[in-house]
Amino acid sequence: MKTQRLSQKLTQALNSQVTLEANSSQIYLMLASWADDAHYDGVKNFLMKHSQEERVHMAKVMEYIQERGAKVVIEALEKPGPEPKDILECFEMVLDQEIKNTEAIYQIVNWSFEEKDWATWNFLQWLVNEQREEEKLALNLLDKVKLAGGRSMSDTSKFELDKTIGNTPQEFPVADDINPLE
Ligand code: FEO
Repeated sequence: MKTQRLSQKLTQALNSQVTLEANSSQIYLMLASWADDAHYDGVKNFLMKHSQEERVHMAKVMEYIQERGAKVVIEALEKPGPEPKDILECFEMVLDQEIKNTEAIYQIVNWSFEEKDWATWNFLQWLVNEQREEEKLALNLLDKVKLAGGRSMSDTSKFELDKTIGNTPQEFPVADDINPLE
């Protein structure tokens, strides 16, 4: 009896998404390490928390693959880097990472639509919503960095920006409801 309810193509695509979320978590860790070294304590805290958020996404996709009777394959991760040169580049990298992730998810949504795999399509709507929120947040933070002066911000602006970013809430309700790590 057939127990696997995911096609080979979608199994591979979702496994790639597991790797992508794990790589994304590594990128946030690399950025957090850069922020600590550059004395942005608030930014570091934000990036550390976000790294964890990416692990939640990874675990959620793993859980879905398993729930559909397919096998999760854990791959090696890429070395993230190079580190950003400054705070502006740091948040440009955050936005870039989120957009790449969104595009990968849209591709899987397309394939699930083509296959009429409505369970997978429906599951992916959670990630689509999550990405919408994450892109909104990344854009908002990039705007804040630019408003504070970008590459030529004063020490006072740097202090205020760091505090603001450190206090930015980022636990999205959609993720909280289904956090498999809790
Ligand atoms: Fe898992 Fe930031 O997307």
